[in-house]
Amino acid sequence: MTNEFSGVLQPGATIGVLGGGQLGRMLAVAAARLGFHTMIYDPGRNCPAAQVANRHIATPWDDNEALDDFANACDVVTYEFENVPAETTERIAVAVPVCPGTKALAVAQDRLMEKSFVRGLGIATAPFGQVDDEASLRAALADPMTANGAILKTRRLGYDGKGQLRLKAGDDAVAAWAEMAGAPCILEGFVDFELEISVVAARGRNGSFRAFDPAHNIHRDGILRTSIVPAPVSADIAEEAKRIARMIMDGLDYCGVMGVECFVTRDDEVLVNEIAPRVHNSGHWTEAACLISQFEQHIRAIAGLPLGDPARHSDCVMENLIGDDVDRVPTLLEDGNCLVHLYGKAETRPGRKMGHVTWLAPPGRQAG
Ligand SMILES: Nc1ncnc2c1ncn2[C@@H]1O[C@H](COP(=O)(O)OP(=O)(O)O)[C@@H](O)[C@H]1O
Ligand SMILES: [Mg+2]
Repeated sequence: MTNEFSGVLQPGATIGVLGGGQLGRMLAVAAARLGFHTMIYDPGRNCPAAQVANRHIATPWDDNEALDDFANACDVVTYEFENVPAETTERIAVAVPVCPGTKALAVAQDRLMEKSFVRGLGIATAPFGQVDDEASLRAALADPMTANGAILKTRRLGYDGKGQLRLKAGDDAVAAWAEMAGAPCILEGFVDFELEISVVAARGRNGSFRAFDPAHNIHRDGILRTSIVPAPVSADIAEEAKRIARMIMDGLDYCGVMGVECFVTRDDEVLVNEIAPRVHNSGHWTEAACLISQFEQHIRAIAGLPLGDPARHSDCVMENLIGDDVDRVPTLLEDGNCLVHLYGKAETRPGRKMGHVTWLAPPGRQAG
């Protein structure tokens, strides 16, 4: 049984967030600006979101009593990461609406389901095959789709390039399979793309749809480094990417903000790489370059409020502050043309996202 949404949340209502990282933190700030209270569910003490929320429940994911208390105290529940256990959202959904919903979560948690779902809508993806054992890996590696090389990915729990192995046709399937330690996988043909873009878009409860302009994303060591807006693509490709995002969100009867990561090929084809059923790192620039950020847009959608205008008043470049990059903050604060956002993480570690910075430029001029 799931709870159908009705009505619009009034100021003073409580929004629950599963997960207490930086995305939850930014959602809590946006919620507060619209007069809502937030309650964070995250086992980690002093997590980034809890620092700015009204309440924090710091118990394990499988503590059913705590989950029920959380659900009963909230008017709507959302999540800031896609690896929330399915049992958790199903249990919560008995008591209170969960947005974007359990279907989006199930699809986004499993790369095989995700790519199959997207293909089922008639949208292109990288070629892929299911890999459950050494024999299926050997067969997939022999497939013509690996002509440009291949990437073996665990179906579940991968992020920031983790759980992935680059391979080429003829590579030793025994050794590669051993590295995945028995985890079900997919093998994808390597796409020799021109660039990576993402669309961050929102769908309201009534099916309304608003998309921010696509960002050009540059990764380093598997982690998003920089997002540049506008992306250097034609108006047709930008529209096509937004159209694809809408098809996916309509297909999931989605409510909230979603990030859709795409490859643009050298023949101007848009392939979907993955979907994130949440606010997305490549949409952080919206807080600086749009009137309504992706965080406020998500809160509006799940609260049943009208979606905001996603138009951009400036061009911009967003850079993640990863590990020691955060030492640059004093200098960045001297720069009158950028917005710095820190996540309240006590410890700096290599590869850890500590904050981000967005430089603005008048439309048509290069920021950064
Ligand atoms: N099939 C592919 N062809 C070429 N590059 C890929 C492919 N799949 C992933 N990549 C590269 O690896 C990065 C991370 O892969 P992705 O599937 O997005 O996993 P993650 O969940 O770690 O973000 C992508 O942003 C892209 O740069
Ligand atoms: Mg990705």
